[in-house]
This record gives sequence, structure tokens and C-alpha cells, in this order.
Amino acid sequence: MTPFSRITGTGSFLPPRRVTNNDLARELAARGVETSDQWIIERTGIRARHFAEPDVTSSDLGLEAARHALEAAGRSAADVDLIIVATSTPDMVFPSSAAILQNKLGISGCPAFDVQAVCSGFVYALTVADAMIKTGSAKCALVVGAEVFSRILDFNDRTTCVLFGDGAGAVVLEASAEPGILSSDLHADGKHVGILCVPGHVSGGQVLGTPLLHMDGQAVFKLAVRVLEEAARACLQKAGKVDTDIDWLIPHQANIRIMQGTAKKLKVPLEKLVVTVNEHGNTSAASIPLALDEAVRGGKVKKGDTLMLEGVGGGFTWGAVLLNM
Ligand code: UT7
Repeated sequence: MTPFSRITGTGSFLPPRRVTNNDLARELAARGVETSDQWIIERTGIRARHFAEPDVTSSDLGLEAARHALEAAGRSAADVDLIIVATSTPDMVFPSSAAILQNKLGISGCPAFDVQAVCSGFVYALTVADAMIKTGSAKCALVVGAEVFSRILDFNDRTTCVLFGDGAGAVVLEASAEPGILSSDLHADGKHVGILCVPGHVSGGQVLGTPLLHMDGQAVFKLAVRVLEEAARACLQKAGKVDTDIDWLIPHQANIRIMQGTAKKLKVPLEKLVVTVNEHGNTSAASIPLALDEAVRGGKVKKGDTLMLEGVGGGFTWGAVLLNM
């Protein structure tokens, strides 16, 4: 058994259609829904998001991100012995998007499953993969966050439809003699189901309830700021580290105000906060690996750096992972 797991490659993919706030405002105006570039930027930091074409699925986006991550790790799909996909917008009710992705990668046999923890999905998936590597069940895991949130947006609800986008990010996590993942801290509190949910479900061949995203933004905002600090502090304590050990803070990219508030509470300078929400919007389970990959490819995150990844979202779920690159 190998004592540690470490990220050896990152990758990401955005669908080509970039929709600016002004593009979206024009589309919404045609429906009688009023919004503005100024409101969206001031309240969220978002300037644009990417939307997938109608026939593109989460596993399609995940496949591109996975290919980039494998290439960066110097691995081929044949080396992968575990696939975990974090998504809330799977291709089908079942089978899992992970099984579909496995087939698209041209491999078979290894375990493949989805993790459903909404915007915390990637930190949940990374924690599961880390545990499976540490117990010897896997040696080379592909951990993917992939979403087509545009499918579940209510474009008559300006309080939510301006916030989200589509995309995918992936990492290759391998057994390692050197420490990579240092600690993790995951939580859920199901009494808050109603503040962020897609209540519709399939029954008797029909969709019952509304299959569109509903969010009480202010309730989510307040909870998010509190729990993100708690999870990060718990991770630091478990690893015997302190806030000044964090080289890069990569929180879930939902709202620049939440992200900056969290950085301030953790005393992480804003220059060490990785921000992609301006160009991606909130891509749910994809947002953290997308931001990580941009930070790696942009030359910010380097080998040996200490990273704090943090997720928060529907469930209510939240969690953090502290790691060395
Ligand atoms: O991914 C999971 C995690 N999700 C999050 O972290 C989201 C957390 N919540 C938020 O980011 C913020 O609460 C929002 C961005 C969703 C909303 O920002 P806010 O500062 O809490 O605004 P608000 O809901 O208090 O709304 C302020 C005003 C309202 O008008 P009145 O009632 O003051 O007249 C809204 O109707 O802004 C109005 N408004 C808009 N105006 C223009 C709401 N959405 C829009 C819009 N365009 N798109």
C-alpha cells in the first residue's frame, strides 16, 4: 500500500459558446425578464459564462477535461483504475456519467461511479478517491467535475439564471510516496434541502415537480461564508498547518463576494485567491477543478505549492481539501 495520493495532472474544458452578461440580458429582455451587466458584475463578479449546445452532455465535457488531465499526467486512459464523476446534471437518470465516460475513454473494467453533492461534489469525489488510493483499492484515479447547468436553469428567474454556466475539470490522482492530499473535511446538513434544489423527479414516465433550479440566494450566501471558514480551519488543524501555509485558495466559484469574504476570514491575501467566476460563472461541481487547471496552466500554481480547495452547495453540503501539488 502507498501512504499518499497526489495530483499528477489537471485538465479542463469549456463549451465554445461564450455568453456575456449583455448577451444574456438581451436574451432575457426578449422574455420580459430585466437584468443588466452592471447588476450581475456588482453582485457576483460574473462577466460571462459558457453554455453547451443542446446535444452536448456532461460526459462529453468531462471527456475533454479528462483527456487534458491524462496528457498532463503523462498517462493514458489504459492506466486509469478508478473513475469518479462529480455532477448534478448527469447524462441520464442512470447509468452514471462516470460509466458513460469510461466507455468514451475506450476502457472497461475499473470501478466508475458518480458523486452527487452539487457544488461540493468535487471535494467529495477527491476525498473518496484519496481514501480508495490510501486503502490500496486504486492507484491511478480520474476525478472529474462536469456540469451542463444551463439545462436546469429557469430563464424566467433572473435571481438564478444569470449565475450559472457549463464546463468540466479533471485531475489524475495517483498513489505516491510523497504527500499530496494532506487532509479533508466534509459535511452535510439535510435540513437545508429547500434553499437550493431542483425539486422535479421522474415518476411513471413523467417529470413530477419543477425540474428547474430554485435557490434562496441570501440564505445560501450566509451559510456559505460561515461553513467555508470552518471547513478550511478544520483541514488546517487536521494537517498541523496554519493559514499562512496556504499558497493558493481555490474556493467554489459562485460569487466573488463570498470568495473574498472567505479569504479575508482565513487571512489569505487576495493575490492568493484563484478567481475564474468572472469568466465561467458558477459551474457547480466543475468550478474547482476548472479553476485549479487554469491556475496550473497559467503558471500560478507550481509543484510543491499548498492548496486549499473548498466547496459549498445544495444539500446543504460543504467541505475542503488541503493538498500539496
Ligand atoms: O453554488 C452554490 C452556492 N451558491 C451561492 O453561493 C449563491 C449565494 N448567493 C448569492 O450569491 C447572492 O445572494 C445572489 C447573487 C444570488 C443575490 O445577490 P444579493 O446581493 O443577495 O441580492 P438580493 O437577492 O438581495 O436582491 C437584491 C435586488 C432585488 O431587488 P429588490 O427586491 O431590492 O428591489 C432583486 O429582485 O436585486 C434584484 N435582482 C436582480 N436585479 C437585476 C435579483 N437578481 C437580479 C438580476 N438582475 N439578475
